[in-house]
Amino acid sequence: MTDPNIKWQHHSINAGNREALLGHQSAVIWFTGLSGSGKSTVANALEQALQARGKHTYLLDGDNVRHGLCADLGFSAQDRTENLRRVGAVAGLMVDAGLLVLSAFISPYRSQRELVRSFVPEGKFLEVHIATPLEVCEQRDVKGLYQKARAGEISHFTGISAPYEPPVAADLLLDTSVTSLEDSVQQLLQLLADKGMLS
Ligand code: ADX
Repeated sequence: MTDPNIKWQHHSINAGNREALLGHQSAVIWFTGLSGSGKSTVANALEQALQARGKHTYLLDGDNVRHGLCADLGFSAQDRTENLRRVGAVAGLMVDAGLLVLSAFISPYRSQRELVRSFVPEGKFLEVHIATPLEVCEQRDVKGLYQKARAGEISHFTGISAPYEPPVAADLLLDTSVTSLEDSVQQLLQLLADKGMLS
């Protein structure tokens, strides 16, 4: 809750000015899904494709943000909410700066994703569900975390000992066990183009 004695300062240069200078709209493309579902991989490939098209981007990634901005937070529902509140605020600032922001966070609760959305102007938030099934994520176990979670060595592990609430109305759903990386990127570029975000 903001202190009532703190008033918003209005500056001369706004998001529209910055978008005009950069030559495209700003937005958040929010990737949600289980650990190992492919969020970071898809976001990384999309960022490369956007860079190649001359778009100004930034990729916010859960594992990286938790090394700095959110290094003090764990994985209880409360800590995840605080993690995502901070990330939402940062993503909102980056949208104001005129960037296309790609965010890869498990963000397991619908309420947390709605909280993040509240930091971004209407129409500038796209939710992408990386809906790779738990069995596939667990089989991949790229970081060895599922094995540790099954052994009880990690608590609150999403999909094993903590819940994941899938989006009810995602802008796009991708299952990386059946859709290739190239196809995923094409679908995302099409979505952004359809929303007028690339011009
Ligand atoms: S979120 O739930 O708060 O959105 P976030 O995306 O930042 O999570 O971090 C998830 C990453 O942290 C996973 O990709 C995984 O590498 C690591 N991790 C460590 N412990 C856990 C846990 N208990 N549950 C889920 N991911 C974990």
